[in-house]
Amino acid sequence: MKTVLFVGAGRHQRRAIVQARTSGLRVVAVDRNPQAPGLLAADLAEVVDFTDVESVNEAARRHRVDGVLTVAADRAVPVVAAVAEALGLPGIGTDTAHRMTHKLAMRLALAEAGVPQPSFAAVRSAGDLPAALDTVGLPAVLKPVDSGGQRGVFRIDTPEDLERNLADALAESPTGEAILERFVDGIEMNGIVVARGGEPALVTLSDRLRPPGIGFGVGWIHVYPPSIDGDELAVAERLAVESVRALGLRDGIAFPQLIATPDGRIAVVEVAARIAGGQMADLVRHAVGVDLVEVALRQALGDEVPDELALPRFSQPLAIRFFTAAPGTLPTGRVTAIGALEPVLEAEGVVQAETYLELGETIRPVRRDGDRRGYVIAVADTGSEALRRAEAATGLLTVEVAG
Ligand SMILES: Nc1ncnc2c1ncn2[C@@H]1O[C@H](COP(=O)(O)OP(=O)(O)O)[C@@H](O)[C@H]1O
Ligand SMILES: [Mg+2]
Repeated sequence: MKTVLFVGAGRHQRRAIVQARTSGLRVVAVDRNPQAPGLLAADLAEVVDFTDVESVNEAARRHRVDGVLTVAADRAVPVVAAVAEALGLPGIGTDTAHRMTHKLAMRLALAEAGVPQPSFAAVRSAGDLPAALDTVGLPAVLKPVDSGGQRGVFRIDTPEDLERNLADALAESPTGEAILERFVDGIEMNGIVVARGGEPALVTLSDRLRPPGIGFGVGWIHVYPPSIDGDELAVAERLAVESVRALGLRDGIAFPQLIATPDGRIAVVEVAARIAGGQMADLVRHAVGVDLVEVALRQALGDEVPDELALPRFSQPLAIRFFTAAPGTLPTGRVTAIGALEPVLEAEGVVQAETYLELGETIRPVRRDGDRRGYVIAVADTGSEALRRAEAATGLLTVEVAG
């Protein structure tokens, strides 16, 4: 029996851990939180802060693991690569892991390959701000270079915005670095790319809709297929693949994020080296029949991934809508009652739904990924009809709040 190590064992990893065990693997999981849901689902759980690479290495050696991976935890990607390198296991390499998790290193590599992207500048302290503003211009986006999940991401419209938010952006970076980028207006898309033997192939491209206001970076709706078409779609598909190649990913799953601008150009926002969180694995499974967790497990073990597992098998339009406060259907405040999910699950076209809501928690206005408190996935003949169905279904969950 082969053993895999999951680095990070949060909510998004739990299902993958269960799937790994179901497929006959022994699972060791590490997380610093003893209550992490994935730890309870693993064969062997270790409470380890995975930023401490040596401790993860030690656990990996002690349990004689055959492969190491993470699902959805961006901060674990460099750790997984380092552990794989240290133990001589299959991995993406620490250089590629750095380029795919450190936004400045990523921008430099994409620039070298000629991939279109926003202008950018590194920011370490207030002294860097005037030059950065000069290079980038306004409006802009300020973000930590090595965080994720929309933590510390700010839209910047004035020099004062920049001064006010710099400390918060830097605080979310373990290395105290931020990046200022030109704000790109347009339709955002998520890609999922599987690279095998140095050849990346596109699996899905889908629209990622964002609410207006402070939560402008949070994906609260996904729609497959994307709304752009023709030449513009062809360019987006090519850039999703080229951006992965430019960052040097040879065997792995990549998550490029692109924006199609109103004047018909495409810019690359970010390319992550993992199965995306936020139900992207579910999107891929329902939309094209590819099981990303199976692909990730095989790649972690160095097993071959045949075309039948890696490439789209069909094309089913769908929409995912998250349960959020406005513009979603949830009220803000302390939760006092949560209605049944059954009416949502039974609604027309719904193939999957879940909530993470708990009594007593406080629902906040949408600000970061964690403010999504569940989701509905609906299918239909077109993406827009699927979205209408998903929207109708979210309205069937009743949640009461106090205050
Ligand atoms: N330069 C930009 N222009 C427009 N929107 C951006 C830009 N950078 C980030 N965003 C928005 O913020 C989100 C989060 O930024 P991203 O760089 O992907 O960081 P994270 O690592 O938190 O996912 C993006 O998905 C996008 O919606
Ligand atoms: Mg992102």
